[in-house]
Amino acid sequence: MDVYGLIGNPVGHSLSPPMHEAGYEALGLDARYVTFEPDADAAAAAIEGGADLGVAGLNVTVPFKRDVLEAVDPAPLAERIGAVNTVDYGPVRAGEADRPHGHNTDAAGVTRALAHHDVAIDGRDALVVGAGGAGRAAAFALADAGATVHVANRTPGRAVELAEAVPGATGGGLDDLAERVAAADLLVNATSVGMEAPEETPVPAAHLHGDLAVLDAVYAPIETRLLREAADAGATTVDGAWMLLFQGVEAFEVWTGETAPVDAMNAALRAELE
Ligand code: ATR
Repeated sequence: MDVYGLIGNPVGHSLSPPMHEAGYEALGLDARYVTFEPDADAAAAAIEGGADLGVAGLNVTVPFKRDVLEAVDPAPLAERIGAVNTVDYGPVRAGEADRPHGHNTDAAGVTRALAHHDVAIDGRDALVVGAGGAGRAAAFALADAGATVHVANRTPGRAVELAEAVPGATGGGLDDLAERVAAADLLVNATSVGMEAPEETPVPAAHLHGDLAVLDAVYAPIETRLLREAADAGATTVDGAWMLLFQGVEAFEVWTGETAPVDAMNAALRAELE
């Protein structure tokens, strides 16, 4: 049996176990997905220990995504983003490497969620609101897929710093948000605004327009105020559960080498959320 899991702190309410296990069941794979909650200073040691325990793969979440970099051989995209959310022990188990490979599937979570909804990225103007972990992954993913990216963040310096690392990107604060949204084809909310707070929104309704596709990284609630107001404005909307699903789908495919059963994983995820 292959053991996969999630390390983070806290991970008690993670939706990844049912999502991944639905995938194993659909493909008839002999595998389990469990959660681990090491102390904050033990993340790198836990990743190293995973190889000795014969663990097949780990997802990594808050607050360990950066710490884990030192314990893995990061893929180029994960290195550029500066965060690893998926550790693949396959090369270690095959005797081909000393350290597990580290990936960032949050980036694919953004692009695959949009592609699944037939939203084009190449040649589009993308506005990423937020410059934390989700914002970093979104900015690199969209730029690599051919978008021109602007990052807007409450703390402007974080957006400027991120934009300097992303090809062709610009960054700034929220002062000119109205103009930035007006000029955008794609809007990604990568802030935590709206999370467990249905009355909050990162972008006032008056700024939204019908030529936008809006992806909200927030998935609790699934229907955020931003997405509701974007739909009212005639925009295409993609909820945060799609992003969560496709980062998991990408990790599943990295680990198993199989095409993930997207529908089964999506059904399990939405059953937990709704
Ligand atoms: P994550 O890794 O999930 O992206 P994070 O690194 O804590 O989490 O980043 C949270 C993001 O939400 C940041 O961009 C943060 O802005 P700051 O960099 O200024 O802190 C943004 N954010 C959080 N609360 C916000 C609020 N009330 N208004 C605007 N932006 C907010």
